Amino acid sequence: MAIRNVLLDSDDILRKISKPVEKITPTILTLLDDMLDTLESAEGVGLAAPQVGILRRIAVVRLPDEDILYELINPEIIETDGEQEKLEGCLSVNGIAGLVRRPVRVKVRALNRRLEPYEIEAKGLLAIALAHEIDHLDGVLYTDRAHKIMDTSSQEYKDYVAKEEREEDAEKRAKRRAMRAKRRVG
Ligand code: NI
Repeated sequence: MAIRNVLLDSDDILRKISKPVEKITPTILTLLDDMLDTLESAEGVGLAAPQVGILRRIAVVRLPDEDILYELINPEIIETDGEQEKLEGCLSVNGIAGLVRRPVRVKVRALNRRLEPYEIEAKGLLAIALAHEIDHLDGVLYTDRAHKIMDTSSQEYKDYVAKEEREEDAEKRAKRRAMRAKRRVG
């Protein structure tokens, strides 16, 4: 396992369309393992193969407070629902973040490392991460979709982050309240 170099958005490779994986080879397995190491070392939420210079339809996603790791081979969005607007960043784009509108819910079909198909029903940050990584496989960066870009050193950015944190806290409190209410009902 090894940490790979993450390409920056000035690199043309990030604009190319990745090819589907047709069979699992030792090279693909090493790539997956290296991508996990690279994601962890960069403290990112997701990483797509083109970001490490490999034009294959492979991505990995791991949410900060979830212990589930998603290995996605040939992933496809098969259903979407609603719209959310959140701040997004990318390991290949330094110093900025953008407000991007994405579906609130996505259903993704992908293959695991044994080429077995599976589906993910995702909401919130996971839905954003999956859509963002799948975009990378088609040469699309979030900066193409963002309707507002902010410098991460700006006050505006800090205010947005604080606002999103407050919203997350409110969501968590509402969930806890709902759980308590359920218990009371029996
Ligand atoms: Ni990215």
